[in-house]
Amino acid sequence: MNSLAKPPALGVLPAPGPVPERMHAQVIRRERYGDPAAAFQMEEVPVPLPGPDEVLVAVKRAGLNYNNVWAALGHPVDVISMRMKQGASEDFHIGGSDAAGIVYATGDRVKDFHPGDEVVVSPARWDAEDPYIQAGGDPSMAPSLRAWGYETNWGSFAQFCLVKSWQLYPRLQSLNWDQSAVYLLCGATAVRMLLHWSPNTVESGMPVLIWGGAGGVGSMAVQIVRSVGGLPVAVVNSQEKRTLVESLGAKVINRSEFPVPGLREVAEERGWTVKAEAFREELLRLTGGILPEIVVEHPGQNTIPLSQFCCAPGGMIVICAGTTGYMAQLNGYSFGSGSQRLQGSHFASREEIETLHQMIEEGRVAPHLGAVHSFEEIGAVHGKMRRNEHPPGNTAFIIAD
Ligand SMILES: NC(=O)c1ccc[n+]([C@@H]2O[C@H](COP(=O)([O-])OP(=O)(O)OC[C@H]3O[C@@H](n4cnc5c(N)ncnc54)[C@H](OP(=O)(O)O)[C@@H]3O)[C@@H](O)[C@H]2O)c1
Repeated sequence: MNSLAKPPALGVLPAPGPVPERMHAQVIRRERYGDPAAAFQMEEVPVPLPGPDEVLVAVKRAGLNYNNVWAALGHPVDVISMRMKQGASEDFHIGGSDAAGIVYATGDRVKDFHPGDEVVVSPARWDAEDPYIQAGGDPSMAPSLRAWGYETNWGSFAQFCLVKSWQLYPRLQSLNWDQSAVYLLCGATAVRMLLHWSPNTVESGMPVLIWGGAGGVGSMAVQIVRSVGGLPVAVVNSQEKRTLVESLGAKVINRSEFPVPGLREVAEERGWTVKAEAFREELLRLTGGILPEIVVEHPGQNTIPLSQFCCAPGGMIVICAGTTGYMAQLNGYSFGSGSQRLQGSHFASREEIETLHQMIEEGRVAPHLGAVHSFEEIGAVHGKMRRNEHPPGNTAFIIAD
């Protein structure tokens, strides 16, 4: 066997040279869809070669995100079948939508990055030829936009990942390698949720209600609100998370002390309202009597009724996900009479990623690294995330050193 036919040694950054034919990867297959701990398995797979505008990155660190819990479950989207219907030949999924690593090989048309460059990867992958983009449209809303490492293959849970060159950013030297791989997806998403949707953008003195304040999106949202002088009120479910988000500058509601059912059954309407009022009273106590004009939503089904109940008239519930379920309830009467806005928000633009980088460089925002795990533990840690048992903040995986 020639030496290139063997994958690089596990845990060791591949030495510069010709692209190896095979690599180690954490792979999901359709027949294993289900509990992430079993859906992810270490396998040897071929290394993809970069096309003209693509870059092959040797991964040093990968970041944990919720999207690959969905990928492992095969629900609500069977990402492998979806891609194969669109013409992909691989019958497997290599996930991972955050990465920090070293440029290993570049396509002919790539001019801005070279082998040896230290980079981080944005998950926003789009086609440069997309007519919407060619006509001047925002790539972050283009029809060809895909979440790299979720909707596309060759993510960061492998020795090499494959990206379009416009997904790359120079690695911030103020961060260590673990931190570099965990902030971009959640942080830039939070920037868009809080600063993009005019006129509901966060300002000095403004209270903002943030679900999952100790989580990936939430811990970044807390810091962004704080950095512009707003008042973040973070919801968490434990004392440990309360301590963390208080240290980031948030006021805190422990939702286990103010339980509110997710659905407002008509027969239980009065019971629901009594519990929701107790939660809202606590919120008003923390904000000095002002309802939040922005509510950062991502749990979805279990929390949207309460988010709406707590949102100020003319305010915005901004939602990037439905972790607890996608089919949520809105009270049409108070939604209309309160002139409330429900705003979908998906990842970020190049400018918003640059805003995030500037905030990090100025020391206004920092990734909160909750844990660092090995390449082999990727499936088990996604299993913990599914059960909401993973550590607060962001989690990095060591792929190579
Ligand atoms: N569209 C996009 O561009 C985009 C980008 C980033 C993330 N997302 C999505 O956003 C969601 C959150 O991501 P993440 O990285 O922040 O995940 P995470 O780190 O797991 O944080 C989620 C938080 O949600 C809270 N939570 C869980 N169950 C809850 C419930 N029943 N009621 C209230 N809160 C609950 C938990 O906080 P407590 O238990 O402490 O309350 C947890 O810390 C995921 O679905 C992810 O896929 C979307």
